[in-house]
Amino acid sequence: MSEVDAQKCFDVALDLVKQAGKVVREAIKKKKNIETKSSAVDLVTESDKAVEKMLISGLSEAFPDHQFIGEESVSAGEKCVLTDQPTWIIDPIDGTMNFVHSFPYTCISVGLWVKKEALVGVVYNPVLEQMFTAIKGQGAFLNGEKISVSGETDLGQALVFSEIGTSLDPEKVNTVLTNITTLMPKVHGIRAMGSCTLNMCHVAMGGVDVCFEFGIHAWDLAAGYLVVTEAGGVVVDTEGGPFDIMRRRVLCASSQELAEKISKLLKQYQPERDGVTK
Ligand code: IPD
Repeated sequence: MSEVDAQKCFDVALDLVKQAGKVVREAIKKKKNIETKSSAVDLVTESDKAVEKMLISGLSEAFPDHQFIGEESVSAGEKCVLTDQPTWIIDPIDGTMNFVHSFPYTCISVGLWVKKEALVGVVYNPVLEQMFTAIKGQGAFLNGEKISVSGETDLGQALVFSEIGTSLDPEKVNTVLTNITTLMPKVHGIRAMGSCTLNMCHVAMGGVDVCFEFGIHAWDLAAGYLVVTEAGGVVVDTEGGPFDIMRRRVLCASSQELAEKISKLLKQYQPERDGVTK
């Protein structure tokens, strides 16, 4: 495998994400054509599809030998396979439900993973003009300014992002509600905002101390993972073990201590794994 030029990959991705941002910024004001996917609350619009097409076409033109995992391509039947090859993992609109309702907590998420490790992450909320970026080893940035996690370790002082998700499976719903009930009296506050990627970026910028979720996919995590780890955050499995991008579980915290305290309290849920890792 030839050496990957992280800076070039970042520059190309940044440019394409900015272009995609224009599409999302215009489309969020308009009426959307909505279809459902895995459940009545798992939505896709023509904008999700158009943005993914635009990103994959631009990236594959610049990097013809790179691989792709895209949310809408996988929904349309493509395999979700992560190999050692440079792989762009794309969520064209994370927070589609929010986008559909014109609620401005939504973003474009593009992560490049090489040898199963994150190298580049670009996350853009074009409505609120928040561009989160990271290149491995170079820190994390919001609109060009360096960001870092809060470093909070005290559970009683922690603001926590839980998430509702898109599965209506009774066991999953019970897990979500049980965890909120358990955490509510122990933490400072709980929120559920509707974008896993932005949740991770808000941990990265120190605005939130923890986020966790069961049932998300590789594309909800790939870019946010790098932004938050480069900002000094901790990303682990919800049980506290090593993070596995295909396992569909994430716990992200401002400190190792806080991650451990939360993981011990969580009721666990294991969705079917995402695709294959080769
Ligand atoms: C969704 C968001 C949401 C999470 C869901 C995801 P999408 O992504 O990240 O916060 O709760 O599990 O599916 O479908 O809007 O790209």
